[in-house]
Amino acid sequence: MSNGKVSIIIPTYNEAENIGGLINKVENILKNYYDYEILVVDDNSPDKTYEIVDRISKNNPHIKLILRKEKKGLSSAIIDGVKRASGNIIVVMDADFQHPPEIIPKLIESLKNYDIAIASRYKKGGKIEGFSFYRKIVSKGATLLAKILVPEVNRTSDPMSGFFAFKKDAVNLNKLNTIGYKILFEILYKNPNLRVIDIPYTFKNRNKGKSKLGMKEIFEFLIHAIINSRIIKFAVVGAMGTIVNLGVMYLLLNKGMFYDYASAIAIETSILFNFIFNDKWTFKDRKGRSLISRVLRYNLMVGPSGVTIFFVMELLTKLLKIYPLIGQFIGIIFGFIVNFILSYTKVWNI
Ligand code: GDD
Ligand code: MN
Repeated sequence: MSNGKVSIIIPTYNEAENIGGLINKVENILKNYYDYEILVVDDNSPDKTYEIVDRISKNNPHIKLILRKEKKGLSSAIIDGVKRASGNIIVVMDADFQHPPEIIPKLIESLKNYDIAIASRYKKGGKIEGFSFYRKIVSKGATLLAKILVPEVNRTSDPMSGFFAFKKDAVNLNKLNTIGYKILFEILYKNPNLRVIDIPYTFKNRNKGKSKLGMKEIFEFLIHAIINSRIIKFAVVGAMGTIVNLGVMYLLLNKGMFYDYASAIAIETSILFNFIFNDKWTFKDRKGRSLISRVLRYNLMVGPSGVTIFFVMELLTKLLKIYPLIGQFIGIIFGFIVNFILSYTKVWNI
């Protein structure tokens, strides 16, 4: 660690009723332990939250206000705060007392052995107070969906947490997408090598004021998860590769080529096609190996699925007298799942 200073980042939008009390509580916990600063990032709240912070900061050099002209969203507020932080230990938390400040020392201590410590509602020992049934479903559902679509975030039990600490010099901030709510999700996705630990905590009821997480934010998150999903990209490439495969086979059969040869040539053409698109798109950030190595390994890895396609086609055409092109298509379905698993674990592993 280059320096031991702690920077607490608190984004606010209409938290006038909470911010003063929270700053107090956080300071009480930090003042005996650490060299620290508290950065409040306010988006010109209509309730003038910033005036309260500004007043406190006049008498207290530990408190700093970052006032932005308009509401640009939670993620972007946090990133602005992190960029302005002078400490290397960053703690991000909400202003509404839902994130208990008592956990902060635990998060900070964990950074001795980890790069990012995440306060988790879903780790054993953690829980959620007073979420409505609806909000519970949304939260659980979004977490599950994120984990399926974006396996990189499986390193934590709570990828949607808004309460976490990390070492500034261990995280690359430039690559982060600032849209939406889910900054932790974005950090984990773009920084696959971080050492992660979960710290259980109880997510409390909101103190005063209202949640700003609405339908718009949920929708943005879904779009974000889908755009970032390798599985979806991989499937899109696979679908295009399927068209290439069947198109090539169709042309060759039309030229009168024997279906065994047509099938084999179509399979290899689509393998190369898929490789190029997965390399340039699906896995563009995972190039730990040389191009030659990636091409060869990909061919080797999809070998089993290519062979599967070929033999399923053979079998269906010979035994069931199915039209070869249909046999090829059914074979492709069988080859697909094998293909994804091997690609992810053996070709684009880093
Ligand atoms: N500057 C700024 N700009 N702050 C914002 C904005 C914004 O556009 N939107 C929200 N905030 C601030 C709020 O004032 C609060 O301090 C914090 O960000 C979280 O907003 P809430 O409205 O309280 O969110 P929530 O309680 O529904 O959701 C929280 O908990 C979830 C579960 O851990 C957030 O932390 C989520 O990120 C988290 O998933
Ligand atoms: Mn809240």
